[in-house]
Amino acid sequence: MSLTNITILAIESSCDDTAVSIIKNGKILSNVVAGQKVHEQYGGVVPELASRAHQANIVPVLDVAVKQANIQLSELNAIAFTQNPGLIGSLMVGCSFAKSLAQTLNIPLIAVNHMQAHVLAHFIDEPKPAFPFLCLTVSGGHTQIAIFKNYFESEIIGKTIDDAAGEAFDKAAKMLSLPYPGGPLIDKYAQQGNVVYEFAKPNIPELDYSFSGLKTSFLYFLKNEMAKNENFINDNRDNLCASIQHSIVTHLMKKLVLASKQTGIKNIALAGGVSANSGLRKAIEDAEKKHQWKTFIPAFEYCTDNAAMIAMTAHYKYFNNEFESLEVAPSAR
Ligand code: KG4
Ligand code: ZN
Repeated sequence: MSLTNITILAIESSCDDTAVSIIKNGKILSNVVAGQKVHEQYGGVVPELASRAHQANIVPVLDVAVKQANIQLSELNAIAFTQNPGLIGSLMVGCSFAKSLAQTLNIPLIAVNHMQAHVLAHFIDEPKPAFPFLCLTVSGGHTQIAIFKNYFESEIIGKTIDDAAGEAFDKAAKMLSLPYPGGPLIDKYAQQGNVVYEFAKPNIPELDYSFSGLKTSFLYFLKNEMAKNENFINDNRDNLCASIQHSIVTHLMKKLVLASKQTGIKNIALAGGVSANSGLRKAIEDAEKKHQWKTFIPAFEYCTDNAAMIAMTAHYKYFNNEFESLEVAPSAR
């Protein structure tokens, strides 16, 4: 097998974004994402609607990705797809499509773990973190701190025992009657407001996270205030957003600082959709100065769900000879 001019097409379909990316010799040539507006009215992702939208979107998204990369399908050396974790119906669309493409083109298939890909998104652009590094992965489904020893070896040292950080943002947004996904909106309004309210601080030992107590505290605070003034949320939207964002970010940072102290590792990376949050980015910048960290946050387009991170991971797997047969199946966990 020739190891020059390796071109891989990668598909991501684990949740509610249909994405295709093409990578050549470790360089991203295209990165196309189609979101799904259909879930907004339901306040969360509806699995059945997600898989149907993936089926409708996958061919047009792939067409645009191939055109933007300016390649022919015949130039491809492998097809990669997100195998897990995610919504099983959504994963199945990407997996079946990848298999038929690999079979038609008679090229190998590479299966990628979505969480590992969020971390390897750091290797798309410079500066790249040096091993070992700590990675705080914060998304809609996951919140964890892991030590990365090399591209393929990691150890989770802390994780949420209930909600994920993105879920905490989205649920708080729902309480404020903001549309799904509310995380980016909380971030937007927080930038116009001030931190004036305090909620119950999560009390959980070691490096684990918990957001359910904070969520309940926020809900009761709102109920209490709305009983006195039914326009409370409308009147105080920006300050409420700034305050809940501050509470979530403070909890995230507290455990990350502790993890760095316990492990002695000062290379700190941030991954997942919530790493787009401006409050978290600012807190990381401040901690970098205070604790002499070296911090790494991928470009915005590589923070939220995308196929470039799947392509990057597939690139390393290709050179590690990690291929799958056509029997491979996706899994939710
Ligand atoms: O990684 P991601 O795109 O998908 C998952 O794998 O979950 O993360 C999506 C999550 C959602 O909960 C969304 O509200 C949150 O990331 N998110 C944000 C921001 N941008 C995305 N949360 C807070 N502030 C943001 N700017
Ligand atoms: Zn994700």
